[in-house]
Amino acid sequence: MKKITILGGGNMGFTYAASIYKSDLEAAIQILENAPERIEEINALNTVMAGNDLEVLKDTDVLFLAVKPQVAPEVFQNIKPYLNQKQLVVSIMAGVSIETIQKGLGLDRVVRAMPNLPAQVKLGMTTYVGSSGVGQEELAFIASVLGATGKIAEVPSEEQLDRSIGISGSGPGFVFYFMDAMEKSAMDLGFSSAAAKTMVAQTFEGAVALYKQNSISLESWMGRVSSKGGTTIAGLDYFEEKQVGKEIQKGIQVCVSRAFELGEK
Ligand SMILES: NC(=O)c1ccc[n+]([C@@H]2O[C@H](COP(=O)([O-])OP(=O)(O)OC[C@H]3O[C@@H](n4cnc5c(N)ncnc54)[C@H](OP(=O)(O)O)[C@@H]3O)[C@@H](O)[C@H]2O)c1
Repeated sequence: MKKITILGGGNMGFTYAASIYKSDLEAAIQILENAPERIEEINALNTVMAGNDLEVLKDTDVLFLAVKPQVAPEVFQNIKPYLNQKQLVVSIMAGVSIETIQKGLGLDRVVRAMPNLPAQVKLGMTTYVGSSGVGQEELAFIASVLGATGKIAEVPSEEQLDRSIGISGSGPGFVFYFMDAMEKSAMDLGFSSAAAKTMVAQTFEGAVALYKQNSISLESWMGRVSSKGGTTIAGLDYFEEKQVGKEIQKGIQVCVSRAFELGEK
């Protein structure tokens, strides 16, 4: 049975710990966290246990880094004395490169993953890439660990991983932006906030379900819900005239550029 230690019991770290705990993966999992009140909070749940004794790192097989990127240099310094070459590192820290992790920890085998927030409800989308020393079997195990929070996709390079921030990593924020505009419109039209929430959520869910059901393109779906001179086409034509779609694409490019900028720091 593999021993997995998650460093950082915040939003993401705890989500992974809880998802692995609930899955049927053959793994023993624990959390290392430095905030005493958070340790107490996690332990009160009586599922995955948390603590702050770095000694436990010595006999861990997989170290999962789930702290904020800003604290990475300090964390690397603190934990390095407890690590050994047999261990595999998985990092979900945005913008911290495999090379930085390898140098910071003095370990060779590193997997970088980019999750997103719906991981909390097992509908996450995680992209991942392993360094050259990570074996196929190990990578398959890590894929099943990451898959405990939703869907996964291996990407061919770290560059591609950073690019995936623009679609899946930061994507929920962009979807929320469109949902927010629709919710505000519903309220302007006189619907209660409860009705607006149901209408927006169900409309998104319904559209996504249709999209996933078969291979019809999104453009074809837009055609199917529009009729000449009708209501949907009137709204879509306005979005096109204002180039809303192109502006969204630009926003995604700005997001990806920011990911690369942060990675260089
Ligand atoms: N949230 C997302 O949607 C998302 C998406 C993709 C990637 N990520 C990545 O996921 C990582 C974690 O994000 P998050 O939202 O889960 O952050 P978070 O909620 O702030 O969690 C980080 C946790 O780690 C703890 N911590 C800090 N230093 C530590 C140390 N030296 N030893 C042990 N624990 C330590 C923090 O405690 P204190 O509060 O006391 O500092 C906090 O509880 C980030 O690197 C982020 O880039 C997040």
